[in-house]
Amino acid sequence: MLHYMDFDSAEQDGESIIFSYIYKRYWEIGFKTRLYDGLSPEAYLESLQRVADSIKLESGEWVLDAGCGSGLLLSFLADQLARGGRYLGMDILPLGLASLKSKMNRRNLNRSVFGMQADLSGNLPLKDSSIACVVAHFSIYTLPGVNYRRQVFREFARVLKPGGILITSNPTHDYDAIQVIRSSLKRLQDQGKPWVVKKCLVYPLTLHLGLKHIERQLKSGLWHGYRPEELQGEVAQAGFSIEHTESVYGESGFLVIGKKQ
Ligand SMILES: C[S@@+](CC[C@H](N)C(=O)[O-])C[C@H]1O[C@@H](n2cnc3c(N)ncnc32)[C@H](O)[C@@H]1O
Repeated sequence: MLHYMDFDSAEQDGESIIFSYIYKRYWEIGFKTRLYDGLSPEAYLESLQRVADSIKLESGEWVLDAGCGSGLLLSFLADQLARGGRYLGMDILPLGLASLKSKMNRRNLNRSVFGMQADLSGNLPLKDSSIACVVAHFSIYTLPGVNYRRQVFREFARVLKPGGILITSNPTHDYDAIQVIRSSLKRLQDQGKPWVVKKCLVYPLTLHLGLKHIERQLKSGLWHGYRPEELQGEVAQAGFSIEHTESVYGESGFLVIGKKQ
């Protein structure tokens, strides 16, 4: 088990005490204030949509959202859950699970949505072969080191049914915060959605409070940005055949789909 975040680098970089405090509680503050949901850029939501498009749940089958955060994925799976699929959101932070619970209540999905507080870096408190699909959307890259990540992928293989699907998205080694914003604005414009408020008010906060922080953690090596073959390798080593890889998140992320062999 590990204490999963070590933000000491913020202080080493000479950040002010207030920023150091914010970064130590980065996700918690985001979930509590709802800034995490409100500031998520379009490219991130598109990446969640790609995950949801890749999930085909039969009635009674479970999807595990590993490192679910505030449960953003839930909105994209609502139709499948209404048809009998089941969702288990797992996160180490209770504030993320609280946000998941309010989404569940709003959508009246109490019978098909469950939340569980657990540390992904330990043994998952789930039975072997009990899950049809595991999603790890931008959650693995914060684990400190390849051995932790390999252990997590092995645990995913253990809890998945034979033939079960792992879908994982993670940042690239050359993650570019500004490119994520540009691609989000372009997507809004291409779809004819309102973009001026996002450009002038929302995305400057997204960039400076969120994406630039992530970029710094990736550059410092505290969090891990992947090359595609490296992510494929970690997934394959845990016992998956690689079914699909694509660039997501304004070319600052990869989505890899593995099938349990
Ligand atoms: C970038 S957020 C992604 C959240 C969600 N998957 C999404 O796409 O919105 C990363 C999440 O991973 C969770 N996380 C990081 N390390 C974890 C661990 N060791 N065990 C459980 N959750 C963890 C964090 O608490 C956070 O909620």
